Amino acid sequence: MRRTVRATRYVTPLREGGSLPGIVEADDDGTYVVKFRGAGQGTASLVAEVVVGELGRLLGIRVPELVGVDLDPEIGRREPDEEVQDLLAASAGLNLGMDFLPGSVGYDGLGWTPPVTEALAVHWLDAFTANVDRTWRNPNLLVWHRALWAIDHGAALVFQHAWPDVDRWAARPYDLAQHVLGPVVAQASRAQAADADAHLAGLVTADSLGEVLALVPDAWLLGMNAALGDDRPAGAWRDRYVEYLLARVGGARPWWPPLHGVAA
Ligand SMILES: Nc1ncnc2c1ncn2[C@@H]1O[C@H](COP(=O)(O)OP(=O)(O)OP(=O)(O)O)[C@@H](O)[C@H]1O
Ligand SMILES: [Mg+2]
Repeated sequence: MRRTVRATRYVTPLREGGSLPGIVEADDDGTYVVKFRGAGQGTASLVAEVVVGELGRLLGIRVPELVGVDLDPEIGRREPDEEVQDLLAASAGLNLGMDFLPGSVGYDGLGWTPPVTEALAVHWLDAFTANVDRTWRNPNLLVWHRALWAIDHGAALVFQHAWPDVDRWAARPYDLAQHVLGPVVAQASRAQAADADAHLAGLVTADSLGEVLALVPDAWLLGMNAALGDDRPAGAWRDRYVEYLLARVGGARPWWPPLHGVAA
């Protein structure tokens, strides 16, 4: 992570999501939405949050700052909810924090809509990283000070649960029919889409991917070994993510519907 803070107070759970993220105050006086390493999903979803969130930032998309949150489960001692207590007890050590945007509202596409170029970038990121979590039911986009912010990337990078053949994954088309930015993206001309694709793909290089993967803590990468029956060191995991993402961006990119449609 770029920096790590220490949790000082557990404020409240966010009940919407399956993994029970919580709002936490930290020793830098900041307030964070925290995804806990002890949640059922394991550490792979935290890896996806960092990789896809920081990739988004690289592409010029607004993503709230991501920090490591060091947790002493003692801060949950007075928490009345047993489920929260258990989660905190299972989450000693490094968790993921996202800067809390006070007063932000969920994007619903009804009033304000973002500029087409921003919508194209988010749409492209989601196709690139196979992010299933940006639909009308679950937009995971916030509007804050009349600007679009992307959150919640833990379900992206589906390949990390099975590591299919790299060439197959690199070309796998992606169905974005339910994407919450679909109507905005539909306003783009083919030339605008082609420009966006070339520009965004140009930003994803071996070097920039290496910098993104360097932000992922070893412990979260090593957490994959138990889940997958593997025993690679953290550095080998980083190389593997870079290989898969580089293969996907370096091909013909048939996975982006605005340029290629969706194969049946
Ligand atoms: N940085 C933030 N600032 C303000 N509100 C946020 C922020 N992050 C999340 N929220 C609010 O909390 C809700 C839940 O967060 P998020 O979407 O990240 O997790 P989730 O979908 O509940 O969790 P998971 O995917 O782990 O099950 C969001 O829909 C949003 O309303
Ligand atoms: Mg969500």
